[in-house]
Amino acid sequence: MIEGTKILLVDDNSEIVDILTDFLSMNGCIIYKASTGREALDVLGRAEIEIVILDIRLPDISGISLLDTIKVKNPTVGVIMITGYHDPNLIVEAMKKGASDFLIKPFEFDKLILVMMRVVRERSLLVEKQNILDSLEDKKKIELLNRELQKKIQELTTMYHISNRFNSLNILDDVYEKMIRIINEILDVKSCGYYIVDTEKNELMLYKELAAGNGDFNPKRLTISKGLLEEAFSPRRYHIEGEKAFLPLLIKGEYIGFVAVSGKGLKGRNKGNFSDSDLFFLRLITEKASTQIENRMLYESLFEGVLHTLTSLIIAINRRDSYTEDHCKRVAQMSLALGERLGLTGYEKDVLRVVGPIHDVGKVGIPDAILLKPGGLTEEEYGIIKAHSLYGEDIMNKFEILSNEARIIRHHHERFDGTGYPDGLSGEDIPSCSRVIAICDTYDAMATSRPYRNALTRREVIAEIMRCKGGQLDPAMADCFVEMVNDETRWDGR
Ligand SMILES: [Fe+2]
Repeated sequence: MIEGTKILLVDDNSEIVDILTDFLSMNGCIIYKASTGREALDVLGRAEIEIVILDIRLPDISGISLLDTIKVKNPTVGVIMITGYHDPNLIVEAMKKGASDFLIKPFEFDKLILVMMRVVRERSLLVEKQNILDSLEDKKKIELLNRELQKKIQELTTMYHISNRFNSLNILDDVYEKMIRIINEILDVKSCGYYIVDTEKNELMLYKELAAGNGDFNPKRLTISKGLLEEAFSPRRYHIEGEKAFLPLLIKGEYIGFVAVSGKGLKGRNKGNFSDSDLFFLRLITEKASTQIENRMLYESLFEGVLHTLTSLIIAINRRDSYTEDHCKRVAQMSLALGERLGLTGYEKDVLRVVGPIHDVGKVGIPDAILLKPGGLTEEEYGIIKAHSLYGEDIMNKFEILSNEARIIRHHHERFDGTGYPDGLSGEDIPSCSRVIAICDTYDAMATSRPYRNALTRREVIAEIMRCKGGQLDPAMADCFVEMVNDETRWDGR
């Protein structure tokens, strides 16, 4: 039963140590030896000792003190105290400190074996108990970690959802409305609105709110408190007033407005009805919205710059050919008006606004001798003129943000029946904006006088447009166009 037990013998009497070593080794024990308290602690630190047989008197420290240290470090180690004389007080003190037994020298080996068997059994129970306690402790720790992990996963999922919603916004989406919608989705709040600042009246004016589904409306105006502006710029970036949390939208360190959110006052929310997690997500959402708005401002200024450059190109062309200047302006105006009548989307009308005036920008690449040639062109010259739609596309593609506009310019000479250029696209394969420009371009060319021919009359142009329906021109668009020209005299020929 004691075979294989690791035993540390601690005694400065080498004879006793040798006798015990021989006897215990014969019984299959693994023996470690120490003659001082310091040596004993050293052995205990590096070997997994199960039982210590400890002399109560040692040269450096007392056996009782060593017993104390052993039991604190490893309560499952069994300690059998040995002493040369009987002192009941010492025995009681040792037992109080956790000694398993006490042997008075000289002791019989049989008694030692009996004590050791009992201590080994006790120790195995102690180890078992400790294991159970450890596993219970581990279970609690695992449960706690699991709860923490679930919370983190939930937080990460929400953060991902917020980022995803903002990243998927397109240029026409209203960032303020989306921001409010996302806040409602994530936090399930009572009400939420975006306010801009009226500095004259020191008030916030409601700019956007989600259509109230729960009957809670946002006030149209709110007074700006001192705390609001102070805390908007504090590191925490929010201000609580009553049940409302205010968070600024900051662009380059300046606020452009505030989100005001009323919490529902659920359990566990202590900062104006908001938990720390609510406020963290509100900050994340307002920061994402601020970034989106800043990016849009940058995009718009970039876009303005690009349009300015393209306009300079158009001016360069116009210096060579004044017809092109007026023609482009009229085509731009007509295209937009036709787009309006046709019910094109806001985005398509934005594209027409850009492309209309510059649809012939590619003419910058056509030599004067051909571009300005009065009268008819040879087939070869016509081929060179036709390249202007490709040159135009190339120019637009130099600006990455105008790739869709580049496509519209490429196809503005396609024909509905598929016999146009450069790709011979037909029907609705031709982008709708290109089809709109094709009609307006054709109309204006016929309705305008050129050095080599006079303008056609309104009736003649309309007849020609009707004749081209389904061939060169989109029939539905052509009908709509004729209706527009009949309704509005401003499109009359010049
Ligand atoms: Fe053209």
